[in-house]
Amino acid sequence: MKALIDKLEKKRNLTNEEFVALISNRNPELDKYLFEKAVVIRNRHYESDIYIRGLIEFTNFCKKDCLYCGIRKSNQNAERYRLTKEQVLDCCKTGYDLGFRTFVLQGGEDAYFNDDRICDMIKTIKSQHSDCALTLSIGEKSYASYEAYHNAGADRYLLRHETANDEHYKKLHPLSMSLSNRKQCLYNLKKIGFQVGCGFMVGSPYQNAEYLAEDMLFIHYLQPQMVGVGPFIPHRDTPFASEPAGTLEMTLFMLGLIRLMLPNVLMPSTTALGTIHPKGRELGILAGANVVMPNLSPTDVRNKYLLYDNKICTGDEAAECQYCMQHRMEEIGYSIKVDRGDYKPVV
Ligand code: 5AD
Ligand code: FES
Repeated sequence: MKALIDKLEKKRNLTNEEFVALISNRNPELDKYLFEKAVVIRNRHYESDIYIRGLIEFTNFCKKDCLYCGIRKSNQNAERYRLTKEQVLDCCKTGYDLGFRTFVLQGGEDAYFNDDRICDMIKTIKSQHSDCALTLSIGEKSYASYEAYHNAGADRYLLRHETANDEHYKKLHPLSMSLSNRKQCLYNLKKIGFQVGCGFMVGSPYQNAEYLAEDMLFIHYLQPQMVGVGPFIPHRDTPFASEPAGTLEMTLFMLGLIRLMLPNVLMPSTTALGTIHPKGRELGILAGANVVMPNLSPTDVRNKYLLYDNKICTGDEAAECQYCMQHRMEEIGYSIKVDRGDYKPVV
């Protein structure tokens, strides 16, 4: 199996069968071999710099009904909220003073936030913080909408593909959603000129090594600037309430493989990873991730943006998370960089 890791490092890709073999044979020795390489490659491009993104969860209203997600439309128990434009701007101001130079506006697919409102928010944030990058994570929209957001000044867009296998996609989503539309959105975003992020959950219901191999091949095909990967964690008010969570080990392994395949990719060590293990985010960095996304949302809404159970940091102020994260990174020999943290293309 080590030969396959060497091959992935060298060729930056493997066949479907090779990915399946690697993924289904992962073991602690292979992990170690992979993570050592992943860290060397990541450090070659980004040294020991960890980029921070200030996450602003501005609405948990959602018209979609993804089976795994705690803010799905049919969850009657979710207490819904929307931040005002002023609240969002306050979050940015707080974040800026703490050293954030990227803001991520994340939300459910909320019709209240039509293109005019989103564009207005983008323009205002960019005019107040012209040295900052702005990332959107607001789901599937039309080409024209994406174009409008880009013209308004948004720089990046996160839209996890969730799974690259059509059958699997259908088991995780209602019939009204399709993988082909999801992929089309990603192609559109790329064409428009966004730095684009795709990604998936590790250990989502029905997932297997074949599907993970397909995720790797799709990511290779898309060549995104960012990839978001975290463990699936059940939410009590969803149809997947009794499904097991994804494992720390498999999540770290996938992070390592992605680092070898896309040496320069910007890859967060996710809050979900920190939720399934107390040192999950540190271990993610040590497996090849190079981004952390502390929360900037106001404390009174923190415990309402719950995609999964037991989410960490829901009671903490932005400053607390920022200091905590700084400390956690320093403990493992890394440091948080005050920088937009743009993608560095291969030269
Ligand atoms: N567990 C882990 N991650 C989840 N997401 C949604 N629900 C869950 C869950 N139960 C992830 C999805 C989505 C991102 C914003 O959060 O991958 O794209
Ligand atoms: Fe939020 Fe540690 S990162 S408290």
